[in-house]
Amino acid sequence: MRKKIVAGNWKMNKTLTEAISLIDEIVTGLKDLVKNDDKLVIIAPPFPYLMKAAEMTKGLNQIEIAAQNCHSNEKGAFTGEISAAMILSTGAKFVIIGHSERRNYFKETDDFLAKKVEIALKTGLKPIFCCGELLSERQSGNQFDIVRNQLKNGVFNLSESEFSNVVIAYEPVWAIGTGVNASPEQAQEMHAFIRKIISENYSTQISENTTILYGGSCNAQNAAELFANPDVDGGLIGGASLIAKDFITIVNSY
Ligand code: PGA
Repeated sequence: MRKKIVAGNWKMNKTLTEAISLIDEIVTGLKDLVKNDDKLVIIAPPFPYLMKAAEMTKGLNQIEIAAQNCHSNEKGAFTGEISAAMILSTGAKFVIIGHSERRNYFKETDDFLAKKVEIALKTGLKPIFCCGELLSERQSGNQFDIVRNQLKNGVFNLSESEFSNVVIAYEPVWAIGTGVNASPEQAQEMHAFIRKIISENYSTQISENTTILYGGSCNAQNAAELFANPDVDGGLIGGASLIAKDFITIVNSY
């Protein structure tokens, strides 16, 4: 059966001291979770805190650490970049790939993202692969084509065994950081579509085992009704993951 996951994407927020106290509060607040086997919590702090975050959550097998990005090359002359192997060596197990902020602000293309997915998997990191349409694309009714193409170009060329290590996050761009979340019906409709195309590309069994997260203004107030949908397996949380109390409420909304 697929895992339920709540992942906190901190983006470019928190100093080291603030990061340590936030992780501390999250770990303390989630101590009962360790007994709940089918739930996983992922924390994605900025790169400089990965090792500290991994150390602070070591031994808690229901809390894992993720990086927010990685480079598509194994190593070499890429000043300022971070490789999948470096991330893995900090103790992190996941990496977010294809977030809309990377696609839009840093012009990361489908091809570049596919290479990142490949290197992440080859290295032993599990990708959390993001997809989602812009507001204009939804307004023109193209959301399904956009998401299908992002998945086709980013992850559908993987082998079955590679794909089984991928988590999908559906994040409509118009909902990210705007306070306007997708309605539970809109989220369920897209998640069911994603599950259907996974099953067409791989198999029903693989699609049933794939965790599909919702992201975009998911918060302590709306998480329960979003997560109540049969194809929504948790969330990728931005703003609300920076407040321990809210993040814990979201984790407990499932
Ligand atoms: P948000 O961000 O929860 O602040 O809307 C979600 C994300 O970008 O992953």
